[in-house]
Formats: sequence, structure tokens, C-alpha cells
Amino acid sequence: MGIINSSKLVQWFNQVKRDLPWRRTKDPYAIWVSEVMLQQTQVVTAIPYYLRFMGRFPTLSHLAEAEQEEVLELWRGLGYYSRARRLWEGARYVVETAEGRMPKDYQSLLHIKGVGEYTAAAIASIAYEEQVPVMDGNVKRVLSRILRWEEDVEKARSRRFFLEYLGEVIPGDCPGDFNQGMMELGATVCTPKHPRCEQCPLQADCEGFALGDPQVYPVKKSKEKPGSAWRPTLILLHQGQVLLKKRPSTGLLADLWEFPGEEMMVPPWENYRGGKEFSAEAVKVAERVGEETSRYRYNLDFAWYELYKNQIGDAACDEAVQELLSRRPSRQGPLVHTFSHRRWQIYWLVLNLDEVMDKTVRVRENEDSLKGDGLCWLDVKELDKIALPVAFQKVWAKVTI
Ligand code: ADE
Repeated sequence: MGIINSSKLVQWFNQVKRDLPWRRTKDPYAIWVSEVMLQQTQVVTAIPYYLRFMGRFPTLSHLAEAEQEEVLELWRGLGYYSRARRLWEGARYVVETAEGRMPKDYQSLLHIKGVGEYTAAAIASIAYEEQVPVMDGNVKRVLSRILRWEEDVEKARSRRFFLEYLGEVIPGDCPGDFNQGMMELGATVCTPKHPRCEQCPLQADCEGFALGDPQVYPVKKSKEKPGSAWRPTLILLHQGQVLLKKRPSTGLLADLWEFPGEEMMVPPWENYRGGKEFSAEAVKVAERVGEETSRYRYNLDFAWYELYKNQIGDAACDEAVQELLSRRPSRQGPLVHTFSHRRWQIYWLVLNLDEVMDKTVRVRENEDSLKGDGLCWLDVKELDKIALPVAFQKVWAKVTI
């Protein structure tokens, strides 16, 4: 008990394995692409993306020569764009440092920028049959049940132990099938809530099964709740186009497009810009609305205009924006989006410059200065073609209802 029968697992994998496009190749680049896609995505979802991606970038050099924007666009719908960016950076790195030849073992794969232990082990074992174990969330779950492992599986100690254990049981003649078998077992049989123990090739080795409580593993310490932030978001429309801004190339949602806005740690109506003074112009706009309004509304009016000045500040639409804000636009609303470590309360507001057209004739004469600020007008019909984070896709869905 506790020591697994690797050949049973491999035999099982060879019987049940699905015929997937990346299982028909030993090309390390193709396996790299598939493993990166599979990191946060189910197999069935990944297939069409994989085929499209490999159709467009059949080799490492095709990918390395592409524009980042195009790579991100092909990733749209899979989410977690940072995976795509790392893959692209990794491909460029291999082209620059090794003339496009993929490193041939686990240790040298780790040198590729953006390739971590998981991806290096998957490529090395599947493409090169190197005897190196792969550990993802599925594998951790399987092992924690086989061993009735009582510690938090995310701890370094658990990780070290699991890797050592896998290193003992991984067969030398088919390490790729063993690794894929473990992952497949976790994904299809040893599932989180209702494991199908009657189908499991490792049933006889499993302490969790023997004692009747496999589903209580893995033990995880309770996760911290994601921190909350506020994210006022301006949708500026003009003649069928919408204003977008490129995010900075580091941090959350790096290099992706967004509707202009700012992340704030306090609600916009409480203390905009962390207690800083409002600009005289913002005060003017808020005062137009009248003395009798609530403090909440009053501050929110400050906040929207201040946000516009900070994030867009395009003199050509300035008056129009002031005018629209003073009319109390009704197309606005809250929306919540949760990332792994952060929760955004998005407050979106639509300002359609066409409604004050006479004042906005010059709106797009200054494209170059907008570009300098990472801003650009995009045809709304193109919005579903660019790398727009899911949070903003959700906003746009509300706007177009
Ligand atoms: N999940 C991620 N990579 C996998 C693979 N190569 N086989 C099965 N499941 C996986």
C-alpha cells in the first residue's frame, strides 16, 4: 500500500488515452504549446485553439517572428494571456540564444525564459523520454489520496516529498506515458469531488480508498480571500469607435487592452485619489450638478471627471465630456470580476460623444498624441478580435445589452 504500480497506470493510460493532436507528435515545440495551453484549460477547450495556433505558427521560428499582438489575439478566449506572452518570449529566447534549436534535456529547458519546472518536465519526458516527473494539481490530488497526505499540498515540504516519491516510481522506459497517465487519471477518474474509484488502476495501492475517505484529500489550508479594489471604467464612444488604452508591460494584465480607468483601493465616492485635492476643473464640473446632491454623488462626479483627465486628458473631447457628465449619464453600472488574487468592483460609465457632436469635431485629429499615451480609437466591430481581458469583455457585454 502506498507504493504505486506504475506499469498498471501506463497500461491503463494506453487503453483509455484520447487521440489528441499533440499526442501524435514528438516535436518538443508542439508539446510545449500544448502544455502551456493545458495549464489552465480543459482538453476539449484547448483543441481548437491548439490547431489554430499550430496552423498559424507551425514552428518555433514562426512564433518568434510574430508580433506579440497577433499571438495574444489567437489566445483570446483561453484567458490567462500571460501564458501566451511567456510562450512567445520563450520562443524568441530560443531563436536568439540557440539559433532556434530546442534544448534537449530538462535542465537546459529550464534556461528558457518563462519555462518553469512543470513545462520543462512535461517537454523532456514526453518529447525526449527523459525520466523526470511532472507535477500539476491533478497529480498532487492523486498522490495526496494514495498516501492520505495530511499536510497542505502547496507547502514546499509536500512538493519535495511528492517529487522524490515520483522520482522513485517513474519508469525509465516510458516516463512520458507515466506522467501523462498521472495527469489524465487526476483529470478523469480521481476527480476533486466524486472520485470514480471503481475505475482506478491504482485502487489497490490507495490508502484513501482503503480507508474510505479519498475525497477529503488533498488537504489545503484555507485560501486568503482575494483583496478588493475599485475600478472606475470609462467607455468613450465616437462615431462607431471606442477609446482603448494599452496597459503597462508589467503587472496585472500586462500589455493587454483596456477601457481607460484606474484601480483604486478605496471606493471612488469616498476619497478619490487617496485624499489628494481635486483639480479646479473637476470641482467646477461637480458644482454644476448642484448643492443639494448627496456627498456620494458629489464625489462620484468629481471622480469621473478626474479619471478622464488622468487617463485620457484629450483636450479635444474635454468640453464634450464635461457636458455629458453634467447631464448625468444613465448608462452605467457596477460589475464584479474576480482574478486569482484580486476582486475588482468595476464601475463602468458610457459617454457617447456623438450626443454632443458639434463640440467634438476635432476628436480624432490628434491620433498621434493619443498614441503617445497608449490610447487609440477602435471600431467597435473589431473589439472581439483584439486581446481584451475577460473583465472588460464582461463590461462590453453589459454596455451592448
Ligand atoms: N494535462 C496537462 N498536460 C497533460 C497531458 N500531457 N496529458 C494529460 N493531461 C494533461
